[in-house]
Amino acid sequence: MIRVENLCKHFGGLKAVDHISIGIAKGSITGLIGPNGAGKTTLFNTIAGLYAPNSGQVFLDGEDITGLKPHQLFNKGLLRTFQIAHEFSRLSVVENLMMVPAHQSGENLVNTWFRRGQVEREERQINERAMEVIDFLNLGHITDEIAGNLSGGQKKLLELGRTMMVEAKVVFLDEVGAGVNRSLLREIGDAIIKLNQEKNYTFCMIEHDMEFIARLCDPVICMAEGALLTQGSAAEVQNNEEVIEAYLGRGLKNREAAK
Ligand SMILES: Nc1ncnc2c1ncn2[C@@H]1O[C@H](COP(=O)(O)OP(=O)(O)OP(=O)(O)O)[C@@H](O)[C@H]1O
Ligand SMILES: [Mg+2]
Repeated sequence: MIRVENLCKHFGGLKAVDHISIGIAKGSITGLIGPNGAGKTTLFNTIAGLYAPNSGQVFLDGEDITGLKPHQLFNKGLLRTFQIAHEFSRLSVVENLMMVPAHQSGENLVNTWFRRGQVEREERQINERAMEVIDFLNLGHITDEIAGNLSGGQKKLLELGRTMMVEAKVVFLDEVGAGVNRSLLREIGDAIIKLNQEKNYTFCMIEHDMEFIARLCDPVICMAEGALLTQGSAAEVQNNEEVIEAYLGRGLKNREAAK
């Protein structure tokens, strides 16, 4: 579904993503791991149109999507969530979901004045969809809660919910599990599996929690220092010497820095 060829994204002299070539198979939940600073988020941002690559190409279902802007990719069904959730904190959960659909005619002032009926109809449909999403994610008890009041994990579920307001094909999740308590993490995992199985979402997810990765992801791709280290099943990657070294090496550097 996604093919990345020789992608490079440099920040000045820093090669954050350096000649990465990977594929994300349709229907998979592909994991992306690697030590802090490996370039995982930069790779996501470059695929999802936030950064223009220095070189290389990205394909979605065979179509070259390199350099397209996030909203153009959004319309093609490529979505991403952020490492830090970015909800509208003063709007409720249901309102946050209703903000997502791209071409709401209500956004156009002329439509609002002259085609009230259509606007109201669309708003009703969007509200129905939002309620379905809330139901799917078991968020019924916080439908009208102000998003700013949600726990970290609930905000991550809301992020996931936002992807369900449109016809998503492939969703990039950047650390949906970070800072989330165990029971909510399990719920988020369940929701991802359900979206994958029932709604045919393809996922690519960055995660540090290996238990979570092992439960959800096959294959798992490991990056270090901007480059692709290895890929395989969670067990294979976890036992790979180079992967262990990349994580330990980092640990050693940290210890030296702390001295
Ligand atoms: N906008 C930017 N400008 C300059 N350097 C950046 C920028 N974004 C990231 N970097 C650098 O690029 C490298 C890769 O960062 P990135 O955030 O992609 O890593 P990561 O694998 O997502 O790490 P983490 O697990 O900590 O989230 C790091 O050295 C980082 O400092
Ligand atoms: Mg990151």
